[in-house]
Formats: sequence, structure tokens, C-alpha cells
Amino acid sequence: MKYTKHVLLLLLIIIPFLSRADEGMWLPQLLGKLNEPRMKSLGMKIRAEDIYSINRGSLKDAVVSFGGFCTGEIISSKGLLLTNHHCGFDAVQNHSSLENNYIRDGFWAKDYASELINKGLFVTFIVRIDDVSKAALNGVSAQMPEADRQRLIDQNMNEIKKNAKKESAQDAFVRGFFEGNQYYLFITETFRDVRLVGAPPAAIGNFGKDTDNWVWPRHTGDFSMFRIYASKDNKPAEYAADNVPYTPKKSLSVSLDGVAENDFTMVFGFPGKTTEYLYSAAVEQIRTINDPAKIAIRDKALNVIDHYMRKDETIKIQYAAKYASIENAYKKWQGEVLGLTRTDGVAKKKLYEAEFQKRVLANAAWKEKYGNLVNDLDAAYTAISLYALARDYYTEITAKIELNTIAMQLNALTTAFEKNGEKGFNERLKISQPAISSLLEEFSPAVDKSVFEVMAEMYVKDQQKEYVSPVLLQWLDASDDSYSSLAGKLYSQSGLFTKASLDEIFSKPPAEAVVSINAFDALKVFRDMQSTYQKSVQVSLNKLQDSINKLQRTYMQAQMEVMKDKKFYPDANGTLRVTFGKVQGYTARDAVKYEYFTDMEGLMEKYKPGDYEFDVPEKLRTLYKNKDYGRYGKNGVMPVCFIATNHTTGGNSGSPVLDGYGNLIGLNFDRVWEGTMSDINYDASICRNIMVDIRYVLFIVDKFAGATRLVEEMKIVYPKQSKIKK
Ligand code: ARG
Ligand code: GLU
Repeated sequence: MKYTKHVLLLLLIIIPFLSRADEGMWLPQLLGKLNEPRMKSLGMKIRAEDIYSINRGSLKDAVVSFGGFCTGEIISSKGLLLTNHHCGFDAVQNHSSLENNYIRDGFWAKDYASELINKGLFVTFIVRIDDVSKAALNGVSAQMPEADRQRLIDQNMNEIKKNAKKESAQDAFVRGFFEGNQYYLFITETFRDVRLVGAPPAAIGNFGKDTDNWVWPRHTGDFSMFRIYASKDNKPAEYAADNVPYTPKKSLSVSLDGVAENDFTMVFGFPGKTTEYLYSAAVEQIRTINDPAKIAIRDKALNVIDHYMRKDETIKIQYAAKYASIENAYKKWQGEVLGLTRTDGVAKKKLYEAEFQKRVLANAAWKEKYGNLVNDLDAAYTAISLYALARDYYTEITAKIELNTIAMQLNALTTAFEKNGEKGFNERLKISQPAISSLLEEFSPAVDKSVFEVMAEMYVKDQQKEYVSPVLLQWLDASDDSYSSLAGKLYSQSGLFTKASLDEIFSKPPAEAVVSINAFDALKVFRDMQSTYQKSVQVSLNKLQDSINKLQRTYMQAQMEVMKDKKFYPDANGTLRVTFGKVQGYTARDAVKYEYFTDMEGLMEKYKPGDYEFDVPEKLRTLYKNKDYGRYGKNGVMPVCFIATNHTTGGNSGSPVLDGYGNLIGLNFDRVWEGTMSDINYDASICRNIMVDIRYVLFIVDKFAGATRLVEEMKIVYPKQSKIKK
């Protein structure tokens, strides 16, 4: 026992320098200080200066936040932008109709004039990042109650933003890092005229759909192209007919050299959210309690929706995007549980915590400050466990029932009327009316009623009595404990489901409209579910969460002070980061080892004629048959996707994948299922990001779509081959 403990501790000390070396989502402005030697040892040929510089054009000037939910990159001097198909999908969908079915057939603008306008779509460049921790934390003390602390920091952040040095067309925001121990100011530039240039057919851009989602080996050409337009003086501007293609500070060169195993790769983008510094008890709760509960809820909901989608073509179209989004996290959480279990994530955290505690106790000053931290964290997570589960139950279940979403919007109207009378009602109507009508466009009462039935049963049967709405229980009782007759009653008032009948209510004088709204029975039930949750869960949960936030913040600070031999990177928070690693296959499970790349051969093996997920367009089949790959294939092989050890997460979709020279070699779009726990505990043995090879992207643009004008805009390089020639 003692022996194994020592061996494990030894491993713990060595591991950070070996296999875990690729972990991390690093701040680009700190690469020079923290990561450059390691990046060079992995094969990087450029300097940290070339990645982030405020004095001259650097790679960061070619990377944008795409609409706030994905990443994109500039690939020509004319503002051409590359991102994922699933990131640009909304735009493609909005321009699609039965006559111009761009989702099915793809879209390629033949010239600038045919590039399509997208209202509301924007891209944001990062101009500069400054450390403002001192100013943001000015006046903050350790004893402050959380709410007071936050109020003060908010004030400080506003001051910082107000005084930030920037041009008039630029914006500023401040964000907290390391659980609120550090703060950075971001100066940004946002362009709001972003036009759709091209997208492949869904059979390429979303090849394999849900079956292949999160799965390796993958054969998806998950890309689309846009163009940034600017005012005549090249500044950010709202859409205008005479806007011109934006001339960027920097655009990425595209390398057609391709990748080999162990090649250096770097992903530059906007990862959304990770929680890498959670205390072990929290991770154990996610693994054994919260993820399984959320998975079980989604499993039931997906089953119901799938049943309807299979038998009704209209429902299939209405629910496709919703289904995909419920399924996306459902599948990810399953991989997360599997990965945490298989790599013993919790045991590893415990070992790390034991080492932390040992060091703390060995130092008088640390012992004084941090001696109780681990015990306090244990106690706090034990205390929050039940409430956190109740929170997940409530949010997961109520979010699946769309009638509840309608009820929430109507409720907001009646509340606004109670508070601010007619004026309040009319103000709120501007939000609620369009929200409800857009929901109803993709809604089937029959599907939702069935979803409600199974959700309500879980809500009642799987929870402690005190978390369950008494009003719902009365209704259930009056329905002889039958969930289907309960659903029958709540869904019988069809006025809730048609735009016309709701609009008629909205057109009445507010006082009358409120009476009509309050007459809906469903509203009474959902209101009580909400207030039951607020009373029995939320009040305690918020208090406990406040204390956990404070403990995790102190724990973060303590780790950075005590575990000096470890390099810390901040959790993802939607800000610009660099992650690096190498191209590499992985062993998924006993005896199952995956190669690092896929090709057209494998794509064609998946081909199922006419299938919803695995059909292949005829043109692509012909190109394959003739091995007509142009300069994009190599020795009769057309590469499609590859994987590497880069540490990525949601939001990194569309991120550029760069080689050691900073050239574009791929486009990030997913992770492998077995490694999705990298959001909580990255493990280089099975965590891989999935990228589409840039050669496949260009092959599709050029040979498949014939959009050669776009390839001609790009700067194409062959760094390795030119090296050999020399
Ligand atoms: N799993 C990827 C991500 O998290 C892709 C999701 C879109 N594709 C899909 N088939 N649902 O966003
Ligand atoms: N598909 C994800 C996205 O939309 C990226 C995959 C991941 O979570 O790593 O950002």
C-alpha cells in the first residue's frame, strides 16, 4: 500500500512534464513567458511574438470570435473567413428555401455581388489584452460577503472600461480569470457586415450527422465560408450596399503539405467553458450523480422526439436542430463519465490534493491561511450535492418541455403588468411575442405533450417530495395518477399553441390580456413548479454556491502559491486562447487503437445511398472513382480528417489549426468521445481534438464546387516541400 502510494506520488510529479504536457488553454499574450520553449521543443518554428503582438500584425489578428459562439479565421487579403459548417448553419438555413435548398445542395457565391447578407451576424477581433487585476480588485478584502465583493468588482470593471485607451470604433470588456483571482481587459473590434460566401451540401458539411458526432474515425467536411465587409475606410460598419471587402491586418497562409504523426499543431480560438480546477468531490458528483441524471432525462426526451421524427417528415424538419442540440450534450456527457472513470480522474485529483495538503501543512504561513481549505471544500460539496441534483433535474426537465417555455414568456407578461402596468406589459410584449412566435414555428403540440408525460413522471418519481410542485401533484391526483391524462388536461387548451390565438390575446388591452393569460391551466402548474423550485432549492443552493465560489477561488489562489512546479492556465471563459500539441492517434479501449487520419476511402466505406446521415453526393463519388484530387491528394489518397492532442472545447469550433510555421493546416470541429472529460480533467492518453484537413476543404471548394476564385484569393504555401527542394 505504502509502496504504491509512493510510486503514484512519484508519477504525479513526473507526469506533468511528460504525458500531460499538452494540456492547457493558454493566454496568447503570455506564451512568450510561459510556453515558448515547450512549443519549440514540440516543433514550433515561429516565435511567441509572431502569435501575439500589439506592435505589429501577428497571427491573433487573423482569428475572430464568430458570432460569439464559434471561432473563425481570415484566409485572404480580401477578408475571406473560414469557420465550421455547423457554425454557419443558421445563415445557410436562413437563406434556404424549397427552390434554393442551400442546406441540401450547398451554396457558392459566384462573385462579390452574390455573397449573402446575414442580419445579426458579427465577428470580433481582439486588438489587445491587458492585465488589470490590480485595478479590478481594488478595495476588495478577503472577508467581504460575495455579493458586496461582486458589486465592488463590477464598479471597478466599469471604471476600467471607461478609462481604457481605444479608438472610437473599438469596444472594451473586462473578464475574470482563475476563479476571480485575476482580471484582463480586452480591446476588441466588431464587424457587423459578414456575408455568406460558400457552404458545401449538408451531406458533406454534416456527413455522418448524429451517429458520427463526437466520434472518431470521422469523415465530415465541417466548413463554410464568409466574408467580412467594412466601410470604405476599412473600419467596422453596419451593413451597407457600398461596404467593401475588409482588408485585414493579417491573413493566414494555407499549407498543402499535410500532416504526419507527431507533427506540432496549435489551435487558436475562443473556447467557451471548462472547469479544470474543481475539487475532487465535485468531479465525483458530476461523474456519479449529475451527468447520469442529465443523461437519463435526455435519453427519455430524445426517445420521444425520435419516435415522432421517424414517422412524420414535417416533424423531422421541425425538430432536427433541436434534436441535434439535445443529443450533442447528451452524447458528450456519456463520453465524459466514461473518460473520467477510465482514466481514474477522481483518484488523480485526490492524489494531487494530498500533495497540496502535505505542502500546506509543512509551511506555517500556508497552514494558517489554507490549512482548512480541503476540509471546507469537502463539507461544502457534501452540503450542496442534493441541491445541485435538484437544480439539474429542474433545469433539464423544464427546458425539454416547450409548453413551459411558452408559459415562462406569458408569465413574464403578467409579472410586468403587475409591476409596471400597461407600460410594463407593452415593453415586455416586444420580447415575449417574437420569442413565442419563433418557438411555435418549430413546434408540435403532440410531440411536446408526449415529452411532458415522460418528463413529469421523472420529475415526480425521481425526486424528494419537497422539491415537487404541490399543484402538479393535485392535478396528477385528479387525473387518477395517470401522466397521460394529466398531459391531456394541460394540453387541451389549444389557444396556447397557435400564433393567431395568442396574437389575438396580445392585441387586447393589457388588463384583459392578463385575464385571458391567467385562464390557462398549464400556466398555474408551471408557475407552481417554478416557485416550488425557488423556495425549496434555489434559496439554499445560491447560498451554498456563494460559499463554494469563495472556497474554489481561495483554492485556486492557494494552488498557484503552493504548487509552484505546476504551470497554471485559466479555465476557458470565452476568451482568446492558444492550445498546442501534436498529431497523434490513441488507444480508445482494450485492443482498440485509432490511427491519426482518415481519407476518402473510409468516407466511401460509410456511404449508404439515400441515407439521411451517410449519403454521398454524386459528384464527390465521381471524383473519388477517378481519384481526381488535383494537388490536394497525395499518391491517390485524399485525406479528410485528423486528430491531435490539442486541448479544446465548445467554442473552439471553427478554430484554425496551425503548423509549426503558423500556416493553416486544418479546421477544428469536434473532440473524440472517449476524451470529452477534458473539460474537467484533461488526459493526454485519450483526449483528442478532431479537425478537417485543409486539403479536403480546398478540394471540396475547388474540385467539387468549382469555386476556384476563392482558392485563388488564398496564399498557398508548401513549407516542407520547398525545404526539401533547397
Ligand atoms: N460535437 C460538435 C460540437 O460540440 C459538433 C456539433 C454539431 N454537429 C452535430 N451533429 N450535432 O459542437
Ligand atoms: N463542436 C464543438 C463546438 O461547436 C467543438 C467540439 C468541442 O466541444 O471540443 O465548439
